[in-house]
Amino acid sequence: MAINHFVLFLLIFKTGFSAEISKFVQTGASVQLDLQTQPPELLYITWKNDKTENVFNYFHVAKMKTSFPPYQDRIEFNESSFSLTLKNMQKTDSGLYTVTITGASSKDIVDVYRVSVIDEVEAPVLTVNSNCSCSELCRFTCSGHNINISSIYNSGCSKEEVTSADDHILRLNCNTTFIMCNYSNPVSWKTDIKVVHELCPVKLDTFCMRSD
Ligand SMILES: *[C@@H]1O[C@H](CO)[C@@H](O)[C@H](O)[C@H]1NC(C)=O
Ligand SMILES: *[C@@H]1O[C@H](CO)[C@@H](O)[C@H](O)[C@H]1NC(C)=O
Ligand SMILES: *[C@@H]1O[C@H](CO)[C@@H](O)[C@H](O)[C@H]1NC(C)=O
Ligand SMILES: *[C@@H]1O[C@H](CO)[C@@H](O)[C@H](O)[C@H]1NC(C)=O
Ligand SMILES: *[C@@H]1O[C@H](CO)[C@@H](O)[C@H](O)[C@H]1NC(C)=O
Repeated sequence: MAINHFVLFLLIFKTGFSAEISKFVQTGASVQLDLQTQPPELLYITWKNDKTENVFNYFHVAKMKTSFPPYQDRIEFNESSFSLTLKNMQKTDSGLYTVTITGASSKDIVDVYRVSVIDEVEAPVLTVNSNCSCSELCRFTCSGHNINISSIYNSGCSKEEVTSADDHILRLNCNTTFIMCNYSNPVSWKTDIKVVHELCPVKLDTFCMRSD
């Protein structure tokens, strides 16, 4: 690991700083890594990562492609755009991917990608906190796995949004018919939508005694 970082440092040091490009991909899906600049001249392209070292090599003149384990059967390389597609991505494939583009005379071009492989988001859950059958006010909570929003329904609710440290976003919205909770991460989103009077049974015309 230390040696790989050292190699990466040397590459960046030798060729000039390159901004890190962030890519999120859902577990099992593909990620396409595009070159940031089309090389004016090209001898070869090498892809490495911080775990397995070699990922893919391309020698332009001979149009020779070499994929390395564990990527042999999971790589597609586009010979006109030079973009690399990694398929069936697993969490263990997360990390830094570095491409070095070597031309005959120009300086090497280096791009660094931070690839994060994450699961599809879990479904959010809307739950009622207080039994609102005797009141117009209904206290409810919209929960994601590590964040939640508690609110009160009173012929509507205020639109709210919270973001967790791990880039999950929870959004709450209501209208006269529905309470809507949207939970998303950088690769997916899911909702829980409930009819207001089913989550919060308001009985306006019924006399009822409060027990508290
Ligand atoms: C390769 O890239 C070119 C240019 O972006 C695109 O038009 C073409 O469809 C791509 N080929 C494949 C097989 O994806
Ligand atoms: C809410 O009230 C209904 C009837 O008014 C009752 O059947 C139900 O058990 C109550 N639920 C809770 C959580 O108190
Ligand atoms: C909502 O989140 C807070 C902390 O942010 C936690 O204390 C509370 O138990 C959570 N409530 C629910 C219903 O998940
Ligand atoms: C409430 O929002 C839902 C979902 O966006 C929409 O389908 C519905 O028509 C809206 N209802 C009203 C009364 O605005
Ligand atoms: C839920 O949130 C995601 C991410 O912000 C957004 O793309 C999507 O359209 C939202 N879905 C609904 C039904 O509002």
